[in-house]
Amino acid sequence: MFANLGFGLGLRTVHYGDVIDSDVVPPVDWWEVISENFMVEGGNPRRILRLVRERWPVALHGVSLSIGTVDPLDEHYLAQLAALIADVEPAIVSDHLCWMTLGGHSGHDLWPLPYTEEALNLVVRKVQQVQDRLKRRILLENPSTYVTFSASRIAEGEFMAEIAKRADCGILLDVNNVYVSCRNHGWDPQAYLAAIPAERVGQIHLAGHTDFGTHLLDTHDHPVCDAVWSLYRDAIIKLGPRSSMIERDDAIPPLAELLTELANVRALAADALAVRAGALP
Ligand SMILES: [Fe+2]
Repeated sequence: MFANLGFGLGLRTVHYGDVIDSDVVPPVDWWEVISENFMVEGGNPRRILRLVRERWPVALHGVSLSIGTVDPLDEHYLAQLAALIADVEPAIVSDHLCWMTLGGHSGHDLWPLPYTEEALNLVVRKVQQVQDRLKRRILLENPSTYVTFSASRIAEGEFMAEIAKRADCGILLDVNNVYVSCRNHGWDPQAYLAAIPAERVGQIHLAGHTDFGTHLLDTHDHPVCDAVWSLYRDAIIKLGPRSSMIERDDAIPPLAELLTELANVRALAADALAVRAGALP
């Protein structure tokens, strides 16, 4: 099992002053940071991160591991990540189930994988290599996707579950991504949740998206929508208490607004846990 850190937020530069300079400590149990933003030698980013880490647990969330590429793992990237881990001692290290590099070139985007046995074997082998290199377990996050492959033979939730089991890693369950991908592809979000093994989920993401009519886009520029709140409640009823946080990457509001949204997460999780305990219908 993974430790339950409580309720967190993504640390963003516009909030640095509120987080480290304010006399009022924000009621946040932990912070998630984007690993690559701090994979630099010293400087202000590392100073800020050290100050935050003195007060709170920190999760390192990467976007560039490219675990699904057929390229070899990027040893330079892993060395930088290992150095950051040694410095920060994060509670969680995570990245995405996706690929973004090929032939040494990066597309700077999180591309989906075909869900086949061949891809499964590739990702499992790579996760094992990463975990051996970092000497710790990582979490892989389910992606938000806009296309599927005709070659896919395994449902995404089952693909995630198989990776976690075979590679002995954890799952970062992004409930918004589950909702976005299910809407885009006509999948059943309840069947998706049912496929996810509770003991493998080390963290939950919540975020907002944009509805373009033809598809949902994972923009992280809106508050969490009602349907995703509802799915989060279902997830906590199934999983039990779990480190949960809100990601906001665009149209970032004042911290006070995100703290109000985070209070919603706390309230909804408490309600879901009461249902789980049989105290509520
Ligand atoms: Fe996410």
